Amino acid sequence: MTLEHCYCGGIIQKYDKSVLPQVKPGKIERVAAKIIAKWLKKGNMARAMRDILPYSGLSYYERNTVATIVHNVVRYKKLYDYLMEKKGIPNTPYNYVKLSKNKVSWDMEIPYHIQISASEKLAEILKDNPEFERIINREPQTTLCTNFIKITRENLIENLKLEGFEAEPYLPESAVLTVPEAKYSVAVKSGLAHVQDASSQMAAKLTGELGDAILDYCAGNGGKTLAMASIFRNKKVIYAYDINSKKLETLKHRSQIYGADIKIMDKREAMKYDVVLVDAPCSGVGAAARNPEAKYQEDFEKYADNQIAILEEARKYVKKSGFLVYVVCSFTPQETSGVIEKFLSENSEYTLNTEIFSNISGIVKTDSGAFITLGDILFISVLKKS
Ligand SMILES: C[S@@+](CC[C@H](N)C(=O)[O-])C[C@H]1O[C@@H](n2cnc3c(N)ncnc32)[C@H](O)[C@@H]1O
Repeated sequence: MTLEHCYCGGIIQKYDKSVLPQVKPGKIERVAAKIIAKWLKKGNMARAMRDILPYSGLSYYERNTVATIVHNVVRYKKLYDYLMEKKGIPNTPYNYVKLSKNKVSWDMEIPYHIQISASEKLAEILKDNPEFERIINREPQTTLCTNFIKITRENLIENLKLEGFEAEPYLPESAVLTVPEAKYSVAVKSGLAHVQDASSQMAAKLTGELGDAILDYCAGNGGKTLAMASIFRNKKVIYAYDINSKKLETLKHRSQIYGADIKIMDKREAMKYDVVLVDAPCSGVGAAARNPEAKYQEDFEKYADNQIAILEEARKYVKKSGFLVYVVCSFTPQETSGVIEKFLSENSEYTLNTEIFSNISGIVKTDSGAFITLGDILFISVLKKS
């Protein structure tokens, strides 16, 4: 068996010290090993990178190479640990780096959850779904959401190319597939686009199509709020709410740069909306390509109670005949069908609407909603109030 998603290089056929590439570490490898050392001690891959990368003296391109190495190590840690233990290789940070730079194949029986480097619980969910396993273990794409308030997608792509970044149209019609370094482009800094996964853009588009007055109830820093303002060119009445007021401050700042007309919801005003979006906190296993740490979780039940509680709060703001849209970046039954079944059993005025998911590229309809698989794996469910 061979891992196809590794970052480069030859094949490790036999497992002993001599098969690890005997390359003198360069600066990139040294920085990657330093980040891995910190992650092994303290967890939190994103923080370990944030604490070290900006002060590493590396260029944006080199930093992206480091980030790729670190992601690969975290993505396959369980498999690497297994192979290193079997072959008596010490699991030092630098040996992880070396392993990540090679395609790995093996000639022994390895349990499935170790092959895919995930918790046993997650492996159980993935074992009949090779497509989801492929998506969460692949190199993540970088996509931008075009800000149609300021620019067309064609002109955005032209601007990115003038800045030296490869860019091409993707799905949905706001999405531009580009290179990781484009995150630092003038186009992004000046609010012509924001970095956003294609599946999230699709979720924003589907939500916005359901009505004119929209409440983004778990708006966070405003990823989907900005996407809705942009895709519908400021023509919708969009309100944002989040339990975390700091995030709403960031959202306000971003919407100014973006020229997006987004209002902050005031719970004291008894307003109701055509559509209420609940993009709930979740395990994030659907975004494991970008944050591979998510694959090692065992307990998915713990998210479901909170997800239902937030739906219960948010439903109060849905107008008669309006829609409650539930989104999570996950595919575990606990956080997807389980939540919808429970909510519907306790709220008889809501019915499931899966018709809107027919014949859309990158969407797989299910009994309780749909999975969007253009980038991350997102679950979306649309509930109509009578
Ligand atoms: C998945 S994130 C939202 C991401 C955001 N929609 C985006 O696209 O960038 C979930 C958000 O729910 C918020 N949240 C958690 N509990 C909440 C609650 N009870 N009411 C409202 N927001 C809540 C969190 O603060 C977090 O920002």
